[in-house]
Amino acid sequence: MDNDPEVDKKERLLTRRYFLESIGAGAIGIAAVGSIVLTGEYLAPNVVKEPPTKFKVGSPENYPPESVTLNKEQKVFIVRAKEGYFYALSAVCTHLGCITNWKSEDGIIACPCHGSKFDREGKKITGPAPRPLPRFSLSLDDQKQLVVDKSIMVSDEATLKV
Ligand code: FES
Repeated sequence: MDNDPEVDKKERLLTRRYFLESIGAGAIGIAAVGSIVLTGEYLAPNVVKEPPTKFKVGSPENYPPESVTLNKEQKVFIVRAKEGYFYALSAVCTHLGCITNWKSEDGIIACPCHGSKFDREGKKITGPAPRPLPRFSLSLDDQKQLVVDKSIMVSDEATLKV
């Protein structure tokens, strides 16, 4: 057994030196990784991801005559009249942009925010909304799927017959 106090002191110094060097190297490594991440975020394009404006809403058979179906994700009503034709109505209230709801018991589209009410064709019945709910382009694609294009507004009379 070697109990030389000088050797013990030397070992303790080496251990302390090694420990401090390790902490220093770790701190430099963390700072380097943080810098790389922040630089990457700075250089990446600052893009807000919006859902596509043109999207499929399924087969016409999914919509019974005289139905109003809200597509919550896209904020669009798919309306099928009792005569069988279709149209796509915006579900965004023209007052301040709240999402409206179909009230089947009353046969109206109602805004929960300030009480605007619309008929199933999107025409205003009452409330502060300044305009009717706009209609979007609705078509059938090659696979006989209904396709809404929110980038194209159509007239209040436009319908799709299938
Ligand atoms: S947002 Fe619909 S009535 Fe105000």
